[in-house]
Amino acid sequence: MIKRYLKRLGNFLVDCASILSSRKNSEIALQRISNFNKTLLNTIPFGLDIVDERGNIMYMNQILENAIGEKTTGKKCWEVYTDDKKQCDLCPLKVGFETGETKTIEVNGAFGGKTFLVTHTGMIYNGKKSVMEVFIDITGRKKAEQVIQQALKAKSDFTSMVSHELRTPLTAIKEGISIVLDGEAGAINKEQKTFLDIAKRNVDRLNRLINEVLDFQKLEAGKMALKMEENDINQVVKEVYDTMFSLAQGKGLGFVINTAEHLPKVKFDRDKIIQVLNNLVTNAIKFTEKGSINIATTGGDNFIRVSVQDTGPGIKAEDIPRLFHEFEQLEGEVDRKTGGTGLGLIISKEIIESHGGKIWVESKMEQGSTFHFILPIEERRG
Ligand SMILES: Nc1ncnc2c1ncn2[C@@H]1O[C@H](COP(=O)(O)OP(=O)(O)O)[C@@H](O)[C@H]1O
Ligand SMILES: [Mg+2]
Repeated sequence: MIKRYLKRLGNFLVDCASILSSRKNSEIALQRISNFNKTLLNTIPFGLDIVDERGNIMYMNQILENAIGEKTTGKKCWEVYTDDKKQCDLCPLKVGFETGETKTIEVNGAFGGKTFLVTHTGMIYNGKKSVMEVFIDITGRKKAEQVIQQALKAKSDFTSMVSHELRTPLTAIKEGISIVLDGEAGAINKEQKTFLDIAKRNVDRLNRLINEVLDFQKLEAGKMALKMEENDINQVVKEVYDTMFSLAQGKGLGFVINTAEHLPKVKFDRDKIIQVLNNLVTNAIKFTEKGSINIATTGGDNFIRVSVQDTGPGIKAEDIPRLFHEFEQLEGEVDRKTGGTGLGLIISKEIIESHGGKIWVESKMEQGSTFHFILPIEERRG
């Protein structure tokens, strides 16, 4: 009997010991986790704190403490950090948050006129619903962005001012030359006509260049409005063909169009699409020394496609991604000689994309290039 009792007592003591030791073990484990967490929080290279639901600071790491100059637990976070000591408008404590959810807001005027990205994560800390805030100082980046924006605006204002100022006298020069050429100011001889013709061609070219720069400015500023109307793409192609014919012929190049019948109806800005085609065809003629230029239209289920093919020098595969960038001319010297701004393709790309379309090129060295663009039919525009 006593034996049985002692055995039971023994078993009980063993159980107690094991319970005590497992509790001790879990306490040690918890302590370790807590130490690990603290070390982790202190190794994060940003200011960090944990606040309760009312914004009272419960924990702050060393970096934040150094930034403020003292450990400020117990106070409202906005009273400590923001310059006006007011709660931020977008503060998750105001607008609501969930445990485990992360939201980032930009806070201006904190820690003495600085700008911060503050990332808030909802969590449970010491059994309380709370928010961990991580502070990333973006003051320098913001200032740099501002400087870049100002510089871009200055560049844009300057270019547009210069272009406008150049346009006015140019119009007068053009007018004057035309009057003399047409004989309205008296008869001119053959030699005078030759020189005036050259002058007129160059004035026209200068005009085109200025217009390209102005167009680009408008695109950059997002000021280009589209006049969308139902148009016949084949008619537009024919018009471009007629205007460009003498240019191609002058270089001894063949020039043909292959238009598809029964194309789906598409709304587009006629003048802008003419501008794109003019640029693609001018490029094709400009860079092709022998062979021919072909403009083709094809229809798809939900788009129409226009392709301008040439038998020119072709474009290196590695250069293709550079093509549609501003002021990009591939061969430097050669292209400067052909006299362009290097803006034609980027303007074309912007125009096509603002129609919801796409523009691209296929090219093989020594064999030629084909520039394609597609315009989606209206109902499918996203
Ligand atoms: N059909 C083409 N064949 C070969 N190279 C071309 C062709 N079209 C464009 N390029 C290259 O792309 C560059 C950019 O064209 P673009 O933007 O129209 O500017 P620009 O005509 O003013 O030079 C050209 O300078 C040329 O290097
Ligand atoms: Mg061009």
